[in-house]
Amino acid sequence: MTNTIVVVGAGVSGLTSALLLSKNKANTVTVVAKHMPGDYDIEYASPFAGANIVPMATKENARWESRSWPVFKRLTEEVPEAGIHFQKCHIQRRDDDLRNTANATFPDSTFDPNPWYKDLFDDFREHEPSELTPGYDSGCQYTAVCINTAIYLPWLLGQCLKSGVVVKRAILTDIRDAKQLSHTGNAANIIVNATGLGSLKLGGVLDTTMAPARGQVVLVRNESTPMLICSGTPDGRGEETYLMQRAAGGGTILGGTYDIGNWESQPDPNIATRIMQRVVAARPDIAGGKGVAGLSVVRHAVGLRPWRKAGLRLEEERLDDETWIVHNYGHSGWGYQGSYGCAEGVVELVDKVTNVAKSKL
Ligand SMILES: Cc1cc2nc3c(=O)[nH]c(=O)nc-3n(C[C@H](O)[C@H](O)[C@H](O)COP(=O)(O)OP(=O)(O)OC[C@H]3O[C@@H](n4cnc5c(N)ncnc54)[C@H](O)[C@@H]3O)c2cc1C
Ligand SMILES: *[C@@H]1O[C@H](CO)[C@@H](O)[C@H](O)[C@H]1NC(C)=O
Ligand SMILES: *[C@@H]1O[C@H](CO)[C@@H](O)[C@H](O)[C@H]1NC(C)=O
Ligand SMILES: *[C@@H]1O[C@H](CO)[C@@H](O)[C@H](O)[C@H]1NC(C)=O
Repeated sequence: MTNTIVVVGAGVSGLTSALLLSKNKANTVTVVAKHMPGDYDIEYASPFAGANIVPMATKENARWESRSWPVFKRLTEEVPEAGIHFQKCHIQRRDDDLRNTANATFPDSTFDPNPWYKDLFDDFREHEPSELTPGYDSGCQYTAVCINTAIYLPWLLGQCLKSGVVVKRAILTDIRDAKQLSHTGNAANIIVNATGLGSLKLGGVLDTTMAPARGQVVLVRNESTPMLICSGTPDGRGEETYLMQRAAGGGTILGGTYDIGNWESQPDPNIATRIMQRVVAARPDIAGGKGVAGLSVVRHAVGLRPWRKAGLRLEEERLDDETWIVHNYGHSGWGYQGSYGCAEGVVELVDKVTNVAKSKL
């Protein structure tokens, strides 16, 4: 039996799902989306990510991130045109943030002093006191990667094309419309819902547990390594300090914010100033010791992470007698670092519902 699959969404979740689904030649895959790689729009989170690999899941939910890391490692080693490079990552913690998690910026396990992910990376180690960023009480480091999303997303789309996926623009008012959008002309028997946050406006049941986790960043030409991720900042809840240098002339992303419920699409100049001041304080070399004035800004930007109260939704749902929806949305701040693991989960669910359909014949 062949599956006629329509994936709604061309962010990292939709494209990675489409790519892995297309590897099974029994599947014909169409991607339909309002926004495509190359677009910069507040309804499209993927271009705004750093993106780096800083695991955020709990140990129980480690599967998505731990299955994705080996793929990114291989791509970095073997596929330079994907726009990913290795970079050391320094994670810095304040004792106050660990004690009082209500004040911590990232609502995740990243800053666990004994994290599950220490075994995921080859060279994880705790920091000596002398290695810490001033203002932080402990930290660790490991070799991760930084993905230049401006190169990676078009590359990923190209991999889909090479594998026979057909990609089309469409604005859906109802997810059920996807059924008629396969390039084959056949009705889809599988729809993958990878619409991120955008689909709050999409017809069907509103998932009211979805909200934006607003991320404001500054992209600068100046460079500094290693990557830096801090558990909290002196500027209070919702603000973050991080820095990562993108591969292949992509500049350096300075962050940031993680502000749940805030839909503002325009960069706030005061927030931008605070981000630059914090990064320059932590890493004076990035601005040649000249402070914020030493930075050369490419652009200020805002992306809305697709946050979901209960976390990721990766599950199947029956739409009608012949059609299933496989949901893959709600990745908040870890959409890249979990992309291959989640897409593998989509493939498993498609196989499962296809077998259910087969057993009924
Ligand atoms: C500032 C910032 C920093 C981040 N840093 C990292 C990081 O370092 N590492 C990491 O792993 N992640 C990071 N993330 C998170 C990551 O960007 C997201 O988790 C990921 O991009 C979500 O991808 P997605 O494909 O689910 O959604 P999106 O990229 O938002 O894609 C949604 C797609 O669905 C389409 N769509 C929606 N509604 C409709 C409709 N009605 N009709 C047709 N199409 C529709 C859109 O057009 C789009 O193509 C960061 C995010 C931000 C904002
Ligand atoms: C944490 O938040 C509480 C309440 O807002 C505040 O009183 C306290 O000073 C904060 N602690 C830190 C370390 O920021
Ligand atoms: C698809 O996912 C969105 C969240 O991104 C959700 O609001 C919507 O209800 C889902 N569509 C269907 C048909 O379940
Ligand atoms: C920051 O980068 C710009 C552009 O590459 C460069 O002209 C400038 O000198 C850099 N600043 C410092 C302090 O190195």
